[in-house]
Amino acid sequence: MIKPILIKHAAQLATLASKGKGPRSKEAMSELGLIEDGSMWIEGGMIKAIGTTTELEERYADRLDEAEVIDATNHLVTPGLVDPHTHVVYGGSREREFEMRLEGASYMDIMNAGGGIHATTRMTREASEEELIEQTTWRLDSFLAHGVTTVEGKSGYGMNLETELKQLRVMKKLQEQHVIDLVPTFMGGHAVPPEYKGREDEFVEHLINDMLPVVAEEKLAEFNDVFCEKGVFTPAQSERILDAGKRFGLIPKIHADEIESYGGAELAAKIGSISAEHLLKASEAGIKAMAKSGTIACLLPATALYLREEAAAGRKMIDEGVAVAISTDCNPGSSPTTSMPLVMNLACISMRLTPAEVLTAATYNAACAINREEKVGSLEVGKQADIVLWNVKNYQELQYLFGVNHVKAVWKKGVKVV
Ligand code: NIG
Ligand code: FE
Repeated sequence: MIKPILIKHAAQLATLASKGKGPRSKEAMSELGLIEDGSMWIEGGMIKAIGTTTELEERYADRLDEAEVIDATNHLVTPGLVDPHTHVVYGGSREREFEMRLEGASYMDIMNAGGGIHATTRMTREASEEELIEQTTWRLDSFLAHGVTTVEGKSGYGMNLETELKQLRVMKKLQEQHVIDLVPTFMGGHAVPPEYKGREDEFVEHLINDMLPVVAEEKLAEFNDVFCEKGVFTPAQSERILDAGKRFGLIPKIHADEIESYGGAELAAKIGSISAEHLLKASEAGIKAMAKSGTIACLLPATALYLREEAAAGRKMIDEGVAVAISTDCNPGSSPTTSMPLVMNLACISMRLTPAEVLTAATYNAACAINREEKVGSLEVGKQADIVLWNVKNYQELQYLFGVNHVKAVWKKGVKVV
């Protein structure tokens, strides 16, 4: 029998609890539900009670002897971080392209010359399921070590049915094998594979008629994502792909306005996409449309930094009423990192989000972006006991001391995993 856990005397317990439902925008992004001298009672993998240490010690007075007690004096406690956008399952690596970009080549030049996403597609097509599981396990372990307990993962390095299914099946196996909750997204529309060069519309039809039905039939994905970008998929092609996914019950997501302003944010709002990703070049009208439609902006400041681009207008988006989430975008080309804490630091430094907004963006709003807010993303009675104990005393310090992994301990469903 696993003992109940009593965490007590947390200098600051950031619960992220709030009365409202759905993604938080504007001032609500700064409401962290802070409890000083905070305490939690955890049992059966769930949060059973939350309050001050005095309150909980009184309430559980007759059971204190059976509990494992964690003294969190001088420490911050938060929900497990949620990463709502990754390409975590892939074969090989692309360090030579990193060098090439530093020598002057652009991300799109490399991709158009058969590298970039195409290079990883070749390596992923060649990799066995076992190899992909091994590589991805290493990355998931690293996520966990950085306080991340839920990760979204996309296919998209197959672009043929066989390899797309291989990536999604790897995710399914990892959901069973790894303690991290992995949320699967189909992204057959990541690029047009070389065998369809010049026949882009045919590839779109192939994806819609031959890939989506199998992915849906095998229940391998919850979301459907597409790279809407000049030279990749047009807004019209993206809309077709996302609409088709909807008919199979897949919720739309969209890589929008990353390299050029291309109407991606507007499209996300129009089709009721749960989130739009990147948005470095999102237009004024696109931002307004997203605020109105309640589309979450999933911002990826590590990607912007890695591509040496100016970060998305996160400050402006929040001021305009867009609910913002943040993510690593973990992938082998534009953001090879598993560090959500670094992404949180960058969200402050490069997008001028406040430390409080950043914590919301990396927990509750991130959970909303993958439909998991009923289970994770905040510390509330009845939710999963996914918890991080940090080596800092408050949420500001977590952002202030940057580039450092402050994780002291992590519990996933009430079990200590770090
Ligand atoms: O989100 N922009 C498209 N897809 C990924 C990058 C994929 C890669 O370079 O392998 C992204 O940045
Ligand atoms: Fe991405």
